[in-house]
Amino acid sequence: MNPDTPLQLLGGLTAREFLRDYWQKKPLLVRQAFTDFESPIDADELAGLALEEEVESRLVLEHGERPWELRRGPFEEDAFSKLPERDWTLLVQAVDQFVPEVAELLEHFRFLPSWRIDDVMISYAAPGGSVGPHFDNYDVFLLQGQGKRNWKVGQLCDSDSPLIDHADLRILADFEQTEEWTLEPGDMLYLPPRIAHYGIAEDDCLTYSVGFRAPSAAEVLTHFTDFLSQFLPDEERYSDADAQPVSDPHQIQHDALGRLKGLLAEHMGDERLLLTWFGQFMTEPRYPEMVSGEALSEEELIDALEQGALLIRNPSARLAWSEVDDNLLLFASGQSRLLPGNLRELLKLICAADALHIENLAKWLDDEQSLTLICELIKQGSLGFANE
Ligand code: SIN
Ligand code: CO
Repeated sequence: MNPDTPLQLLGGLTAREFLRDYWQKKPLLVRQAFTDFESPIDADELAGLALEEEVESRLVLEHGERPWELRRGPFEEDAFSKLPERDWTLLVQAVDQFVPEVAELLEHFRFLPSWRIDDVMISYAAPGGSVGPHFDNYDVFLLQGQGKRNWKVGQLCDSDSPLIDHADLRILADFEQTEEWTLEPGDMLYLPPRIAHYGIAEDDCLTYSVGFRAPSAAEVLTHFTDFLSQFLPDEERYSDADAQPVSDPHQIQHDALGRLKGLLAEHMGDERLLLTWFGQFMTEPRYPEMVSGEALSEEELIDALEQGALLIRNPSARLAWSEVDDNLLLFASGQSRLLPGNLRELLKLICAADALHIENLAKWLDDEQSLTLICELIKQGSLGFANE
């Protein structure tokens, strides 16, 4: 993708301009980011998903049993018929994993790393419906799918921003409005992390949130050090062969800190392990139980492809690749594989192609490592046959 091509999705900005001026910095309203946008899912289908066990869903009622009542799905069939006329919202997480047409929307966001994308959440709101003024710690593109929604944006928040007293929802006690827009189908609002926002449905409305993910510093440190520690032998310890006589045996001298810092730097600075951990961490599936497959021999794979089978990525799988020296690392659903540099085109194909088939795989089918890799990805569940 050429970063200097103006994109309709970004209101005519190029990816480079958007990243320079807006990404993680300030809101951007794009009228008609999608022309003639027709929501690939309607309110009934969204409600249907909220009945399913494996789907994460919530209902927020502004005037429920208490102000801003939160109900968690899965819901019973009759849950929606008992709702009031107005002022409630149904939110369904990760709809892209269940509805391929919703996953296709993500193709428009390929100017950003795919491993930064979290999911497409879709909300349906009755008139007046809102989840209250709040902030999120991640970037989001709010695409209006149906009906109209009024969005107010406000101050930059942080974990000290006062919240109302509520057990389940993080609703801001103060909202300092800076701007306001009403979005119609196809309009889109980009919000950087921590900007207060308050969306209120003007009529029956569907809003798509393309949400991004970024690990917190605390997550990076705890998860990376856990990962690292698997490779550290017990005998590797704080060591002070350079110790000098002490003037007070009860004092911790700063030279001890110097040794600790050395120990940390030696391991924390291991770029290869950091990359391996990060790739695995960022490709961990949201719903691991939805990523499973069955063993298949290389002969069976070739037979299937020769008979016209299509291999597609599991919508619940996450894939990414990277380089280490002359080799490549493929990350698939939380696992990593070190592969030779000559498989670069294959890895790119696996990560990006709509489908893998006898034609685009032709040049790899007499290569043992390629066949093994594809079979492993099928067994793991990251790839699967389209018609299964
Ligand atoms: C909504 O769709 O109602 C809420 C989305 C958000 O503010 O994050
Ligand atoms: Co939000």
